[in-house]
Amino acid sequence: MSSGWEGNASASPAVASGMSTAPTSPSPTASTASPVGIIGAGRIGSAVAQLAVDAGLDVVIANSRGPETLADLVAELGPKARAATATEAAQAGHVIVLTIPLKATTDVDPAPLAGKVVLDTGNYYPQRDGQVAALDDGSTTSSALTQQHLAGSAVVKAFNNIYSESLRSLARPTGDAERTALPVFGDDDAAKATAARFLDTLGYDVVDGGDLAESWRSEPGRPAYGWPYADGEDFTTAKPGPADAVREALARAQR
Ligand SMILES: NC(=O)c1ccc[n+]([C@@H]2O[C@H](COP(=O)([O-])OP(=O)(O)OC[C@H]3O[C@@H](n4cnc5c(N)ncnc54)[C@H](OP(=O)(O)O)[C@@H]3O)[C@@H](O)[C@H]2O)c1
Repeated sequence: MSSGWEGNASASPAVASGMSTAPTSPSPTASTASPVGIIGAGRIGSAVAQLAVDAGLDVVIANSRGPETLADLVAELGPKARAATATEAAQAGHVIVLTIPLKATTDVDPAPLAGKVVLDTGNYYPQRDGQVAALDDGSTTSSALTQQHLAGSAVVKAFNNIYSESLRSLARPTGDAERTALPVFGDDDAAKATAARFLDTLGYDVVDGGDLAESWRSEPGRPAYGWPYADGEDFTTAKPGPADAVREALARAQR
């Protein structure tokens, strides 16, 4: 059994109370953590992979076309990263980052992800994903649909509200005055606590936004989507977004 950010099953008080993380447990010990599986090797997948490698974690990363197409990326990431099939990435460790277009989610085999924490970075873009009536009428959320497909996993929505380049550049060590917070949503408190430890390891605080039914609050077009981390009107310039700003933006969201 490994230790570190994967931790135990109990939810951290900071996450359970909706506060940003102020981890009370010892610092994560990357060397004893199992690899992070990343399904999707595009803008967010490669950014998370870079942060994980920088934090000392091993990464197993996959795309839809096969590991041989990821040679350049893994060369860039260095010896702590390896390319694999999506099934191998799903088997890699306890925490798996699922970072693919929503329309591809049903192509993902739920079996190797059963019993794991799946961090879903996805957003719904009808022009990319096709119209989904239950999302258009607000009766569910994209991450709730992902949870439905991955019924044996604990899905936590994370990393979905920040531009990939800002995600790369805003990571800061635990306790840094310029730490940025990212919202997490999930139906399983223990999984959210695991997600919070993982994000802490990568350089981010978290704000607990509630369960998956509330996760529309951080989706495109809402105040928490991009704006807490944007410098002025330009989405591509990054500034730290503290927990208070994220919490306020989530509260202000209207459906
Ligand atoms: N870009 C951002 O700044 C940003 C920010 C927040 C959230 N998001 C959301 O995060 C998700 C990923 O976004 P992105 O911008 O990183 O996407 P992207 O750059 O288009 O990359 C998508 C990745 O998913 C892989 N993929 C697609 N279907 C797959 C499957 N069935 N199995 C394994 N891998 C598969 C693709 O592999 P191939 O290339 O081999 O097909 C590619 O590596 C989306 O839902 C997006 O809306 C994006």
